[in-house]
Amino acid sequence: MEPITSVTRTSGPRVLTIASGKGGTGKTSTTVNLGTALALIGKKTMILDADIAMANMALHLGIEKSPTTLHDVLAGTADIKDAVYELESGLKVVPCGVSLSGFEQSDPERLGHALEELTQEIEFLLIDAPAGISKDGVIPLAVSDEVLLVVNPEISSLADALKTKMVTEMVGSHVGGVILNRASIDKTELSKREVGSILASEVIAAIPEDAEVRRSAAFKQPVVIRKKDSPAAVALQKLAADIAGETFTEPESCGKQEGFVGRFVRSIFGG
Ligand SMILES: Nc1ncnc2c1ncn2[C@@H]1O[C@H](COP(=O)(O)OP(=O)(O)OP(=O)(O)O)[C@@H](O)[C@H]1O
Ligand SMILES: [Mg+2]
Repeated sequence: MEPITSVTRTSGPRVLTIASGKGGTGKTSTTVNLGTALALIGKKTMILDADIAMANMALHLGIEKSPTTLHDVLAGTADIKDAVYELESGLKVVPCGVSLSGFEQSDPERLGHALEELTQEIEFLLIDAPAGISKDGVIPLAVSDEVLLVVNPEISSLADALKTKMVTEMVGSHVGGVILNRASIDKTELSKREVGSILASEVIAAIPEDAEVRRSAAFKQPVVIRKKDSPAAVALQKLAADIAGETFTEPESCGKQEGFVGRFVRSIFGG
């Protein structure tokens, strides 16, 4: 296998790859909701499903019948521009197909070249990476400007994230921050401080365990649209504002949950 190294771009979108190591930590939920939240504050945003073996981003958004997908782009039979779908929120999505044959015909090395065709029209490109550090997992790390690691507050999640961080640096990119997902105020969980110190990276957001995330996925809608004042949706919108360098204003209907959100933020971040 040829060594995989980072791609240097001089223009185009800021490319953030959402990765983890361990599976099921919340990468796809985070990508879909962070991307939607960025689009809703007016940022030109695209999300791309690079989980070419086990793709499911399209299912989160109800666009699973899209005729052209990243599989076609990576098979060399379609241009990436033909695999872009724009949603009502303004979010642009490059879904991936779900068939085994589509996966078999995909060459993940075509990803970097395909991204070069995405121009200045996009400000943020979020790439949903697969779990693990096989070739299709490493290329999304290499093509990123920075990697955001989605971890759960448990040691197995951190051990795998640490490996992903090492691989990220080996391919010439870097970890821009850690998103602590499915956090609660359970004392047995690792704290934000412990997570930050084990991964030697800043924890840029703590997203609470929130049944609305799963429910919204079942309804094929981002939680930041379907239940935008739920605790996880509020944390995701705040993260989007932070990434965009803007100030976050909590939705008015959030008033009755301020007590919980305030307590949660204090317990995770201290203060
Ligand atoms: N903050 C949260 N609160 C509650 N449930 C959550 C939260 N984040 C994610 N989930 C649920 O956890 C499950 C896994 O999430 P998701 O599919 O986003 O993870 P993933 O890292 O993309 O998984 P994979 O590695 O398989 O691609 C889903 O059922 C999702 O609804
Ligand atoms: Mg996923």
